[in-house]
Amino acid sequence: MTPDLMEQGAQRLQAKQDLVATGKTESGGRDAGYGRIANQEVDTTHGRILYLEDVHVSFDGFKAINGLSLDIAPGELRCIIGPNGAGKTTMMDIITGKTRPNTGTVFFGSTIDLLRFNESQIAQMGIGRKFQKPTVFEQLTVFENLELALKTNKAVKNSMFFKLDSAQSDRLAHVLQTIHLADSVTRMAGNLSHGQKQWLEIGMLLMQDPKLLLLDEPVAGMTDEETVRTAELFLSLKKHHSLVVVEHDMSFIERISEKVTVLHEGSVLAEGTLAQVQNNEKVIEVYLGR
Ligand SMILES: Nc1ncnc2c1ncn2[C@@H]1O[C@H](COP(=O)(O)OP(=O)(O)OP(=O)(O)O)[C@@H](O)[C@H]1O
Ligand SMILES: [Mg+2]
Repeated sequence: MTPDLMEQGAQRLQAKQDLVATGKTESGGRDAGYGRIANQEVDTTHGRILYLEDVHVSFDGFKAINGLSLDIAPGELRCIIGPNGAGKTTMMDIITGKTRPNTGTVFFGSTIDLLRFNESQIAQMGIGRKFQKPTVFEQLTVFENLELALKTNKAVKNSMFFKLDSAQSDRLAHVLQTIHLADSVTRMAGNLSHGQKQWLEIGMLLMQDPKLLLLDEPVAGMTDEETVRTAELFLSLKKHHSLVVVEHDMSFIERISEKVTVLHEGSVLAEGTLAQVQNNEKVIEVYLGR
């Protein structure tokens, strides 16, 4: 083995060990609770997987979210557009438990009150979130990144001995196909293009089979070709997953949109097909016409 390879190997081992250490710290004594929450069924019999009603959030008196209501159906792919500062990211912060609203209702399915849970509990329930910047482990291979994504807090303790069972291996193979990285299994994540890193991170979310995926500006910084492939990817994910996609790139929205919600000053300004909202006078004035 060359010194180079040994160095790389040592770095990868260190990265894994760091993760194990982090996992231990984060999991604390709450393993039993996570398991219970993860097994909780989301009740979508009323035709909604996510429901927000009259949500308000103020930051030092500034109303970032101001009477926001939203209703997402199971298997839906909802696009959210709106000017900078409209509250799109804050909305995701509320759904994922990062920000607590001052007032309002936030439900996952018709029975789970998300305001009663913290960020990690909400993630464990099956709500996956993709931030704008890719956050993959650059020193690990594509395969190792996906493998790590499977590790629950409990499993992470045995990380060095963690072995995929056959269902997990099948899942990993399926995810690799879905994210167009089947030919790059052994590549270091750090050597992937920006778009491929974004796909890998989406793949890491998919390893947990989330019921709802929240994606904040997923195609920012992508090439045109990567953007088109991402549109295809999202279209292949809907139905089995519900997706809420925030994006400014209208060419991308055009490719994937069914129902589009326009946010402005913390509440819904318009909702409908892309054509409908594009022809809405208020939307043209505050967003599209600028
Ligand atoms: N933690 C915070 N403290 C104070 N103000 C905040 C905080 N988070 C968000 N804001 C403010 O709330 C408003 C909504 O911000 P948000 O990031 O949700 O907008 P956005 O619609 O995602 O915009 P962009 O399209 O630029 O990403 C902004 O004016 C922002 O400055
Ligand atoms: Mg934002």
